[in-house]
Amino acid sequence: MNIVCVTGLGRVGLPTALTLASRGLPVAGVDSNPSIIETLQKGKVTFEEKGMDALLEAAIRGGIEFRVKPAVTDFYIVAVPTPYDKKTKKIDPSHVVGAVRGILRVCLPNPIIVIESTVSPGTTDKYLRPLAAEAGVTARFAHAPERVLPGGILYELERNARIIGADDRETAEQIRSVYASFCRGMFTLTDIRTAEMAKIVENTFRDINIAFANELAKICRSGGMDVYEIIRIANLHPRVNILHPGPGVGGHCISVDPWFLVGDYPMQSNLIHEARKINDSMPMYVLERVREIMAENNISDTSRVGFYGVSYKEDVDDVRESPTLQLLDLVKTCMGNEPKVFDPLLREKITASQYMDFDRFIRDINFVIIMVGHSRLTEHQKSFNGKIVLDTRNVYHREGVYRI
Ligand SMILES: NC(=O)c1ccc[n+]([C@@H]2O[C@H](COP(=O)([O-])OP(=O)(O)OC[C@H]3O[C@@H](n4cnc5c(N)ncnc54)[C@H](O)[C@@H]3O)[C@@H](O)[C@H]2O)c1
Repeated sequence: MNIVCVTGLGRVGLPTALTLASRGLPVAGVDSNPSIIETLQKGKVTFEEKGMDALLEAAIRGGIEFRVKPAVTDFYIVAVPTPYDKKTKKIDPSHVVGAVRGILRVCLPNPIIVIESTVSPGTTDKYLRPLAAEAGVTARFAHAPERVLPGGILYELERNARIIGADDRETAEQIRSVYASFCRGMFTLTDIRTAEMAKIVENTFRDINIAFANELAKICRSGGMDVYEIIRIANLHPRVNILHPGPGVGGHCISVDPWFLVGDYPMQSNLIHEARKINDSMPMYVLERVREIMAENNISDTSRVGFYGVSYKEDVDDVRESPTLQLLDLVKTCMGNEPKVFDPLLREKITASQYMDFDRFIRDINFVIIMVGHSRLTEHQKSFNGKIVLDTRNVYHREGVYRI
């Protein structure tokens, strides 16, 4: 088989490229960021994920090549970012368009180009097919969205069910045979637009369900009820499964993808839009709780307040759309001082008031706000005695702990 060229070596593309190479396929991993390529060429991983070091070694043994430009071949996988335009709420397709343009410049005739990036329904027709027509290339586009969970990416890559959207059965089967080299999950073959929409629907479903839990938290606080106990009891119903409230939704997927539907279908997406607004309101809601608790405990100095956890979810080092970072901005704007932050997973400082040492962090604060339920919390919470604690995740159980 010709080389499989994976473009975009981030949290989705890198594990995919390494897994394919470790299974003996000839693979070129491409990223437009030269420092990522340099790091990988030195045999070092570019982000924390369970099992990645060993997988990189296996892929290097398997002959993977890392480069900044697409390889000359006829099978491409594209896993570049797909943000949304903050003004129009529509997809910003510039990375996907840039990646596909680069591929069309060098590809062999009749290439298969599989888009793994999450895209709004219609993106392939609207933005990508015209590029192939312009370049005079008969490209076979397909959409195989990724469903992996950060923190368990390698496990899920092998086991999750996959969707393959393509124009014809033969192309879909060719793509399936590549993915089947590592994926034991069920494959569903469909058309491209259905595959594009199905992925967006999955993340939108999650966003709406989180918003419901967050709204319940607000109602219960206002009515003096315990939201966690109420959710626990309600979930005993055989057909009820309410998620847990939290300090907001971050990451590159759930907090982004529903906007594509709001941007493209503003008249039809009322519930989806409301859910986005509710989840986006949570950092401000947490700030209000922080202020209440500070007033109740006569704390006026924000520099004695500390946020535990910066990543958007537990046990990952990904801070994209992080609720903690949004909250820090709000505190700076509304209270004029920068509270302290600590995250056991972050190796580099991303904000001025961040501590890299837990003992110093906890020594310098009186009021700790648990923003992320990292596994390391079990060890760190032993030092929370004598501190005021607001637990936004319901992970720390002690008398007198505040909740959202
Ligand atoms: N992170 C997740 O858990 C996850 C899960 C499912 C789906 N997705 C989707 O997968 C896609 C990629 O997400 P990610 O988290 O891997 O992003 P990422 O930001 O971690 O990685 C993307 C990589 O693409 C590179 N890149 C950007 N433009 C490029 C170009 N033109 N040519 C080559 N490289 C380019 C960037 O340098 C970066 O390294 C997104 O659409 C995302 O919504 C992500």
